[in-house]
Amino acid sequence: MKLSLSSATPAAADVDFLALALGEGELERKDGAAQAVDEALGGLLREAAADEDFGGRAEQTLTLHTHGRIAARRVLLAGVGAADAGVDDRLDQLRSAAARAVQAARRAGAKRAALAWSPESPEREVRALAEGAVLGAYRYDRYKSDKKADPLAALALLLAPETAIDAALEASLDLGASTAEAANLARDLVNEPASTMTPKDLAAAARKVAREAGLTAEIAGRAAIEKLKMGMFLGVTRGSDEEPQLIHLAYVPKNAKAKQAPPLALVGKAITFDSGGLDLKTADGMLHMKTDMAGAAAVIGAMKVIAELAPPFPVHAFVGACENMPGARAYKPGDVLVSRAGVTAEVGNTDAEGRLVLGDMLAWACEKKPFAVVDLATLTGACIVGLGPYTIGALSNDDALATEVLAAARAAGEDMWRLPLTPSLGELIKSNVADVKNTGGRYGGAITAGLFLQKFVGKTPWCHLDIAGPSFLDKDRGYNPKGATGAGVRLLVELVRRRATA
Ligand code: BES
Ligand code: MN
Ligand code: ZN
Repeated sequence: MKLSLSSATPAAADVDFLALALGEGELERKDGAAQAVDEALGGLLREAAADEDFGGRAEQTLTLHTHGRIAARRVLLAGVGAADAGVDDRLDQLRSAAARAVQAARRAGAKRAALAWSPESPEREVRALAEGAVLGAYRYDRYKSDKKADPLAALALLLAPETAIDAALEASLDLGASTAEAANLARDLVNEPASTMTPKDLAAAARKVAREAGLTAEIAGRAAIEKLKMGMFLGVTRGSDEEPQLIHLAYVPKNAKAKQAPPLALVGKAITFDSGGLDLKTADGMLHMKTDMAGAAAVIGAMKVIAELAPPFPVHAFVGACENMPGARAYKPGDVLVSRAGVTAEVGNTDAEGRLVLGDMLAWACEKKPFAVVDLATLTGACIVGLGPYTIGALSNDDALATEVLAAARAAGEDMWRLPLTPSLGELIKSNVADVKNTGGRYGGAITAGLFLQKFVGKTPWCHLDIAGPSFLDKDRGYNPKGATGAGVRLLVELVRRRATA
């Protein structure tokens, strides 16, 4: 689907599907797109809207047939809610409206569609519309025999005539589109079954991203992980026949001074299948565990856009990919693992594997002396219990970094809430035989997981994002289809964009 910006009048647009994004009260305005379309349709638009109680409220949609009175065969009204909802909520409504428009256009078999909107802050609103359109167009049909080609070839964003379409606005459109394409790539990696998204497959995907985006890629197997003395990572991978992979992507600025600047480090959890290990999960608990590499997928996707943003500091991505399987050689409850950082960890439960691999990866990332390290991980069911399925849990040892990450997430339309790293809960992960234990019992599970990770970052400003809930949906929700969502990609892009322009 090709996206473009245009100042064509909606009523005259040469398309077969026309969508109007409208805030509350906007349908009645005499100077907007709705007025001209309503006139062209002989008053049908407002009549239908009144009958169907369409008031431009958030998530409202109304479609009508135009019976040949304008070029478009169908007109869709997409409500975006009250103007005073706050900028970030407004932007998310625009994402959702664009997604609804694309989905309805496709259902109607349209080839060319247009979406009209009169922007208040054109750059960020165009970016949000582009994101919503591309996110909404996503389908995972790789294994469907009856898949049809997508008829929708083009979507034009028709902006009110007072909006100047300049290079900056085109760049916003491109940024929105490439961010959403990166999220769609992350969705593909997560939706792919575990048997065809093994650690080696994930490494190959990362290498492909690096090649396309001009990133450096270093990929290594078991021997390198042994050489780096990542005893916790090696413990988790032992029960699997798939070789673990160490993935290191880097964006390095061209400018000599920027090249020397302290880097940003990103770390992603990449358990390509989490059976639980010898502490085997239940059938229900295991069902979606191909998604246990969603953190890595988000980081790999984001790196693609980060290369385009070209910030004046390096950005490194670290991923330790392996499976967590039971097997004759599997690591066992009660084992003690010696981490790269030298910290020893008792295995209280083999299903708390993510923090073990991440601990070694975080220690490695911190050796590069980053100004900040951000990790994304489908780490705990407890985070879903605490915050619900749609909210990312953020845990950080640095208030300034946490504030920055929360603000980036808000602007990107990713729901996030900070949880404390309550020091006194450290007693729950004390071990009788080692420095720390990988489980802390039922209470405060997202926090004790965070406290475990904290042992491996030293004084480096660090923010841990638990995406166990929002990375995967069991039903469609706005611009997120059922299945993988690409959670984390947009907030990482926004975090880097803000730092780059600060
Ligand atoms: N990958 C899971 C966490 C998870 C659960 C992600 C549900 C997505 C949906 C993680 O490895 C895990 O198994 N965590 C355990 C930890 C426990 C054994 C301390 C959990 O949350 O139950
Ligand atoms: Mn697990
Ligand atoms: Zn896991």
